[in-house]
Amino acid sequence: MTIAAEGRNLIRDYEIPGSIFRGSSSVRAVKGISFSVERGKTLAIVGESGSGKSTLARIIALIDPATEGELLIEGKPVDIARQKPTRDMRSTVQMVFQNPYGSLNPRQKIGDVLTEPLALNTNVPAAERRKRAEEMLEKVGMPREVYNRYPHMFSGGQRQRIAIARALMLNPTLLVLDEPVSALDLSVQAQVLNLLADLQAEFDLAYVFISHDLSVVRYIADDVLVMHKGEAVEQGTRDEVFADPKHPYTRQLFAATPVTDVEAIRARVASRQAARASAQS
Ligand SMILES: Nc1ncnc2c1ncn2[C@@H]1O[C@H](COP(=O)(O)OP(=O)(O)O)[C@@H](O)[C@H]1O
Ligand SMILES: [Mg+2]
Repeated sequence: MTIAAEGRNLIRDYEIPGSIFRGSSSVRAVKGISFSVERGKTLAIVGESGSGKSTLARIIALIDPATEGELLIEGKPVDIARQKPTRDMRSTVQMVFQNPYGSLNPRQKIGDVLTEPLALNTNVPAAERRKRAEEMLEKVGMPREVYNRYPHMFSGGQRQRIAIARALMLNPTLLVLDEPVSALDLSVQAQVLNLLADLQAEFDLAYVFISHDLSVVRYIADDVLVMHKGEAVEQGTRDEVFADPKHPYTRQLFAATPVTDVEAIRARVASRQAARASAQS
């Protein structure tokens, strides 16, 4: 068992600038959260809008510093406020965002989207960069011809596949996925979730998977962390948390999610898996 990432009592304050009427102040968006996620496993972070999920995601993805607390990536402490992370450490953790329309530059060809991380962070020569990008496109279920096209030619689900491919170009061990399927139609959600499960198995990836959707969490999570107003109000394995939610907020969250949604998404996923299995055999 290898721990991909670990957080110890992470805190994040946002400074709110003052006005002529009042001085500056700060809000504590993350209030002391601890977690760990192993290679090959998924930690789902669930909570309603404004609970601090994206703030925590950006800390784990080495985009924003924590105000206090410790973050360890593969056992090594990282404090980006004091020391810029090395290229290696940056490559280790990659992020996928919710909005597949906003996260791809409309003027950049898909090939450039995928080869750019290699060009910026490695000495891999151009021909090899192209080869790796084309191979990655196939891994995410896109034809190689996509290499010369622009993002506007693709649907939301296809763009999210491309964004996932880009995130994988530097061989990360951890993906932080912030609501990666929330903007997609339900049937497309199931396809992208299946893809993520396949990629996780193939590359032994750890996922920190942010979602407000319990049916998605139930499907993909090994462990669950429920956030409410910046705190982790519940933490445990998926089965523990779903079978016996302890905190009133978790119960309330669960009560608001009809069970049929869970069954429906499971059924969709199962039927797709069956279809793919029979197509392969
Ligand atoms: N850049 C920022 N400056 C000030 N406050 C912020 C900033 N980003 C988020 N917040 C506040 O932090 C809290 C948590 O936000 P966020 O992490 O985006 O939650 P979630 O992703 O769960 O919706 C919210 O109250 C939000 O208004
Ligand atoms: Mg968010």
